[in-house]
Formats: sequence, C-alpha cells, structure tokens
Amino acid sequence: MRKKDTDHILSKEILNTREAAALLKVTTQTIKNYIYSGRLQAIKTPGGHHRIRRQDLQSIGFVADDSKGLQSLSRDDLWAAYSGLLGTFIETVEALIKALDMRDILTSGHSSRVAEMCCAVGTHMGLRDKDMQDLRLAALLHDVGKVGISDSILGKPGRLTEQEFFLVKKHCEIGEQIVSGVDYLRNVAPVIRHHHEFYNGKGYPDGIGGQDIELNARIISVADAFDFLRSDLSFRAPLSVPDTLNEIQSSAGAQFDPRVVDAFVDVVRERSHQVH
Ligand SMILES: [Fe+2]
Repeated sequence: MRKKDTDHILSKEILNTREAAALLKVTTQTIKNYIYSGRLQAIKTPGGHHRIRRQDLQSIGFVADDSKGLQSLSRDDLWAAYSGLLGTFIETVEALIKALDMRDILTSGHSSRVAEMCCAVGTHMGLRDKDMQDLRLAALLHDVGKVGISDSILGKPGRLTEQEFFLVKKHCEIGEQIVSGVDYLRNVAPVIRHHHEFYNGKGYPDGIGGQDIELNARIISVADAFDFLRSDLSFRAPLSVPDTLNEIQSSAGAQFDPRVVDAFVDVVRERSHQVH
C-alpha cells in the first residue's frame, strides 16, 4: 500500500474491513474471521457492513509506537506470542487432565500416555502440524467427560454391571459438550465424541464406521485400547507387549482401522528395538 493511502487510513478512527485488512497486511476474510471468532470487536452498519475502531486493531497485533505512530507486529513477534499462548494453553489442559487422572486411580496417567503414543503414531503416519496439535489435545482430553461419572463407578474394583457401563458410555457425549464451548477445540470435540466408535460401525455413541470416524479418533481408539490392556487392573493382570499387539491386530478391520493398527505396531516395535 502507498504511504499516502496508509496515512489516510491512519487518520480515520473508524475503518471498514478493507481498510483494516490493508493496515494489517492480511485479507478482508482474515479480518472477518477475527470478527466472527470474537477476537476483534466490530459494529455493524444498518446495511450489514462491519466497522472497526482503529484502536481495536491493537487486540489482534497492531501496536502503537510513540515514535513511529501505528505499526503492525512482525510475523516473528506474532508467531512467538502465538506459540507462547498455545504452549500455555496445552500446559493448562495437561494440568487439568492430571487432576482428572488422579481421580480415576485405576488408570492414573492414562490420558498422558495415550497422548504420547498418539503423537508418535501421528508422526509415523505423516500428519500435518495442525492435525498433530489437535490429535495431542484430543488424546489428552478424550476421557474428560468422566468428570460427569460418579466415583463409585469409576473406582469400582471389578467388572461393571450393564447399567453402570451404560452410564460410563455417556462420557463421550459429556466430553464433547465440555469442550464444544472452546473455539480452539472445535476440531477436537467430535474426536472426543467418537473415540469409542468401531471401524465396523459397532461402537458408540453414534455407531458410525470407516472413514466417517475422524482419523484422530481412530488413532486414539487404538492407543486407548493398548494402554488399557497394558494396565494393571484389580480384575486382571496387564498383558505383555506382544500379547497386547496380537490382541489389537486381531481386531484390525473390526474395532480398529487397519492402517492405524499397522502404524501403531510399527511404532511400538521400533521402540522395543530401541530399548533392547
Ligand atoms: Fe474413553
């Protein structure tokens, strides 16, 4: 943009989306996204157009500098700020999940272990950065809905009755409802809902199958089962790693996505070779 145009826009207190986009060097659609997501305040004209106060642009990375007037933050500064906030967000989620895991004494540390395994499988399968972030968060939060299940059921030593299992199954929908109010977790909510779906459509809560189940939910499903089978529970001893892998492979195509099972087995075998 020419300096004359910039000065003209800077002289205005109220901007339209095109002028705001020109100042921030982004597209008008990006400005609209900021508005729709609530990150940027705007008012609507009677004709339905957005108007933005120039000072409100500071909330999305437009800074005032006494010596130079207004200028936008560099991409590096914005990226550093974004990464810092994202890191804090993930740490906060991890702290909350630790509290949840401590409540469910039978499976302490389960969510963290599942998240760690999911990340390894996601990397092996070549997931993109954003999908990996969503996978990590979904894996950490997959059982967050268990906060809505009573202690007497969660901590029950031994097998659950049919009625108790019916209540436990509700944790998928409760978890989805808990995170659905968080804009950053909008891709995570359906994954939490579907982490107990089966590849053959015989899981819960919706009975969907195959590719209709989000890939991240299919990955969590395998890691979740692996960690469960490897856990020392009061009613049975933990399975060995080879027995657990056999068990999971025998359910490929039924409970689990065969492609995910292959990747999972590769990751676990690579790790056991590194240990020995
Ligand atoms: Fe679960």
